[in-house]
Amino acid sequence: MKKSMRARVEELRELIRLHDRKYYVDHAPEIADGEYDALMSELAGLEREHPELVMPDSPTRRVGGAPTEGFRTVEHAVPMLSLDNTYSPEELLAFDARVKKRLPDEPVEYVVEPKLDGISISLRYVDGRLDVAVTRGDGARGDDVTANVLTIESVPLDLSGKASPANVEVRGEVFMPRSGFERLNRRRLKNEQAAFVNPRNAAAGSLKLRDPAEVAKRHLKVFFYQVVGVSSGSIPTQMKAIARMRDWGLPVLPDVTPASAIDDAVETCLSWGDRRGGLDYDIDGMVVKVNSLDQQERLGSTTKNPRWGIAYKFPAEAVRTVVLDIVVQVGRTGRLTPVAVLEPVFVSGSTVSRATLHNQDEIERLDVRVGDTVAIEKGGEVIPKVTEVVKSKRRGRPRRFRMPLTCPACGEPVIRSAGEVDTRCENVSCPEQVRGRIHHFASRGAMDIRGLGYALVRQLVDGGLVRDYGDLYGIEADDLAVLPRMGEKSAENLLAELEESKKRPLAGLLHGLGIRHAGARVAQILAESFPDMRELIAASEGDLAAIAGIGPVIAASIRSFLASPRNAEVLRKLDGAGVNMRGGQVRRRKTALAGLTVVLTGTLARRTRTEAAAAVVEAGGRVSSSVSPKTDLVVVGGNSGSKHRKALELGVKTIDETELEELLGTKERH
Ligand code: IVH
Repeated sequence: MKKSMRARVEELRELIRLHDRKYYVDHAPEIADGEYDALMSELAGLEREHPELVMPDSPTRRVGGAPTEGFRTVEHAVPMLSLDNTYSPEELLAFDARVKKRLPDEPVEYVVEPKLDGISISLRYVDGRLDVAVTRGDGARGDDVTANVLTIESVPLDLSGKASPANVEVRGEVFMPRSGFERLNRRRLKNEQAAFVNPRNAAAGSLKLRDPAEVAKRHLKVFFYQVVGVSSGSIPTQMKAIARMRDWGLPVLPDVTPASAIDDAVETCLSWGDRRGGLDYDIDGMVVKVNSLDQQERLGSTTKNPRWGIAYKFPAEAVRTVVLDIVVQVGRTGRLTPVAVLEPVFVSGSTVSRATLHNQDEIERLDVRVGDTVAIEKGGEVIPKVTEVVKSKRRGRPRRFRMPLTCPACGEPVIRSAGEVDTRCENVSCPEQVRGRIHHFASRGAMDIRGLGYALVRQLVDGGLVRDYGDLYGIEADDLAVLPRMGEKSAENLLAELEESKKRPLAGLLHGLGIRHAGARVAQILAESFPDMRELIAASEGDLAAIAGIGPVIAASIRSFLASPRNAEVLRKLDGAGVNMRGGQVRRRKTALAGLTVVLTGTLARRTRTEAAAAVVEAGGRVSSSVSPKTDLVVVGGNSGSKHRKALELGVKTIDETELEELLGTKERH
């Protein structure tokens, strides 16, 4: 009797957690609120009658129905990119040269800002009031952490000042001041909790806490440094953007310094190397930005980085240690990476016991050998690297390291093509690659198959149950029963997770496929550009390259992946298993633009082109960079040229900016 009671309690908890996830994380509730409440009250009733069955993590222990797992996902109207890094004055000069090349004969001024080592955040104000605060996430979408951000004292709920805009998005960095970090760690150690490695991790951890009351105790801070969603016409420069945000009542990044030319900017960057220790927060470098927002707009971005700004990273902390061994790892793409196994050392906040040696050329350049004393460097989140061999400490004549001629995982001969630095195993069935691909497929941001970690992937592959990720969905309970250390419960969970993952958005699937050069952002663009996988497969290299954000190299790589019969077979398996293959405008507003391919050309007065593109995508349309017979609409701004002519030639419908705003169904902006 007792046993079945316990089983029912467990079943109820599982069900509640499942429905929580569907509601809070997937936004696809499957049961009515009343049914959910009934499950909850049955559980609460049983727990009242049998207090011995109450567990601290029971759903009944939660306060006010806060989500147990994850935060609501919010799409960024304008992607949150990252900055390219540089480490020397020369690289800053090269940045200046690239900028000038794109803006010939124009004076360019810069600003130099501290680069805060925190967590980037985007806040949207609607009608002057804070609407949502979202983390960077994968750049295309992040977590809604509004409740937590509201605990930061300096964040205004309403923008102030006469000139404050109704609708605006501002971006900045959430961080934990050093003093607060030390206090927090002292408290944690006293309570026998693990200390945080550095203020950045502490800030990240705090921002993801479920209980805002707890977050409030962490005393986070934020500085804003970017305005998006206001046309460049109304704010001419980055200096002004900072001043405006201050006027609106936002806490802005201090120490933003104008520089009339790059030499000036370099000098400022270098002078900060010594000053940074005096701040109550960590900065890991400086950011150099083009001051004029109009020039920023015209410089635009690559898929990853803006062309108008660059990070100058301070030299990383260096320490010495001994190379115990050099091993070779095989990645999911078949690349062989030599890795130094090190005598563990503590550097920049954590213990390091491995460092990448990149490739054979790098090993030769460094002349690193087993037994050598080496200098290693670690900066921010980059994998530590060996920077120098301390030759004076070399004892005897250790042997030079050579990359193996055969793959350490499968034994097949490896290949280093002429002109390439990488050595590759080209055996697609190489177990290490197979495991790597499946592990990537299951990872967060891809198909997010929880519980399918590397150890389990190894068991599945080594046990012959799966040869590629297409086989995952063919796994049955009986197959799993024979695996060592696999209980009935975990087998059931894995099968449930696999089933659940079939509903993931197309972007997750495309990312999970592991197409070279097609990371999360490209996957997102593809998923938004095609209604389903079938159309993506039918697209030519030219069609792909015509999509904004997809260059020729990426287009060729996608085409070649999809053209491979082996990959086609795997895709058929996934399709047959019922994995979601539909993309298009999931979770988009339904507007007159839904499903239309739009090209924007010329100067727009009310929005920047990037903003307009984001608005079109948000309204369910697709944005393409070139006019073709497949284009539905060309939005023609001022001074438009060849694209306008082409539209007229091809008879593609053209509209002006006012008509675009009507189609977008947007209200009057400030
Ligand atoms: S501008 C394209 N300015 O550094 C992103 N970023 O990879 C433009 N950061 O993700 C960002 N201080 O989180 C900018 N003064 C600053 C910054 C800053 C820190 C962060 C930001 C960004 C990362 C760069």
